[in-house]
Amino acid sequence: MIEAPATSIPEACDAASRRVYVITYGCQMNAFDSRRIVQVLQGQGYAETADPAMADLVLINTCSVRDRPEKKVLGTLARLLPLKEARPGVAFGVCGCVAQQHGRDLLLRVPYLDLVFGTDKIADLPRLLTQVEAGDRVACTEVMPRTDYAFVDVDPSVEHGPSAFLTIMKGCDRYCAYCIVPSVRGREVSKPPHRVLAEARALIQAGVRDLTLLGQNVNSYGKGLAEPVDFVSLLEQVAALPGLSRLRFVTSHPADADDRMLDAFGRLPVLAEALHLPLQSGSDRVLAAMRRGYTREAYLARVARVRAACPDIALSTDMIVGFPGETEDDFQASLDALEAAQFDAMFSFKYSPRPGTVAAGLPDDVPESVKAARLARLQAAQDVITARRMVRYQDRVEEVLVEGTSRDQGSSERVGRIAPGMTEYFGRSRTGMVVNFAVPRGTPDPTGTLVLVRIDEVLVHSLRGVRVDARAPEVGGTHGG
Ligand code: 5AD
Ligand code: SF4
Repeated sequence: MIEAPATSIPEACDAASRRVYVITYGCQMNAFDSRRIVQVLQGQGYAETADPAMADLVLINTCSVRDRPEKKVLGTLARLLPLKEARPGVAFGVCGCVAQQHGRDLLLRVPYLDLVFGTDKIADLPRLLTQVEAGDRVACTEVMPRTDYAFVDVDPSVEHGPSAFLTIMKGCDRYCAYCIVPSVRGREVSKPPHRVLAEARALIQAGVRDLTLLGQNVNSYGKGLAEPVDFVSLLEQVAALPGLSRLRFVTSHPADADDRMLDAFGRLPVLAEALHLPLQSGSDRVLAAMRRGYTREAYLARVARVRAACPDIALSTDMIVGFPGETEDDFQASLDALEAAQFDAMFSFKYSPRPGTVAAGLPDDVPESVKAARLARLQAAQDVITARRMVRYQDRVEEVLVEGTSRDQGSSERVGRIAPGMTEYFGRSRTGMVVNFAVPRGTPDPTGTLVLVRIDEVLVHSLRGVRVDARAPEVGGTHGG
């Protein structure tokens, strides 16, 4: 804690009228954290606002897994400074990875910053805000030991839509050479299964049909829990909950994705046919340098195993190009691995060193221009594979969980894609594909239900089709579309 020069005390105001504006930089995990932050603040009487000028509290939530957000954070704070000059009562906070890494240094560097809190401190926000309101400038960034970690459960009353995420663990014990997650998010801590189940039940009760279990390495779930339970047992328990139509999980580490887990795709009907399994590189030499703990052959054997259990499964992956020492041959091995695995989708990144990681001690010797060229080549190769994979949807009937009306209704009408008098909805197939379909205006709103759509158009990243069920079928775990 840093003692405050007596500045920046937020105006005492009616609790219900306080507003928070949150800026999120980074990955899905971080966007999810932002939702939890808003949820905790709602419990303190804050409402979220989309207008920073209206905010009593402005939070910048950052992620440094692939980005270098320090500069962005300082730039954003500088841009926001006029808000503080206009309304001295507004409090500024920084949270997430940058907060975790720089801690109280940030308070020293930015004199008008009030609060810095780490990725483990969301549950402590009420206490930290009380200190800020009392005039303290607060930095709170310790990473919690396994025993003390406080998860913030999803509040079903603030979740919207038929899909939701549920955090089952935080942190990672894997220490891949390039990855900053273990140092900013700390050691693995698993949420006890009874809490996962209670949270899942509450979400289903609130209308959630498609649930994604979230963690950095879900396959090692259960370590350190009082009652021993592993990930597959947890999956089985969640899969048995009545009312759930689709169960997913991210992210799996290939070295921890054992046969029992892969075979579950053939055994648990509610498990959606989609698996994200980051490969990172197709070269055994690079995989070893990355400390990934598997070879290309072992990885491809897992792909074959899961495809044998569930032939229609949609596989996605993460790839890094330009890891230290990556040669043209190593990169070629990555291209070959894409061809061998036939992923449906790929997320790819240029390697960039992260402070404190093992790889940061290696020379970052692949020139930026080579990294950029390899990234473009890798993406071009995957685009061809993705297009090939997408063809299988043509004329198939897909089960679609409807999320709402399409955002581009207006433009679709203008180009004649939607006939006059029709409303277009979108949803997701069990494999995670976006599916658009139109129904006559006045048809009961299918949002939140499962419908059947015959696919008549395969686009680059989405599908279009015609609804073929008379009305929404009963919810329940059906396999395949
Ligand atoms: N450089 C580039 N990509 C990275 N990722 C993680 N750390 C780095 C890094 N230092 C990518 C990996 C991981 C995904 C979440 O981000 O592919 O799977
Ligand atoms: Fe990072 Fe590796 Fe852990 Fe994934 S498994 S979060 S890449 S250290």
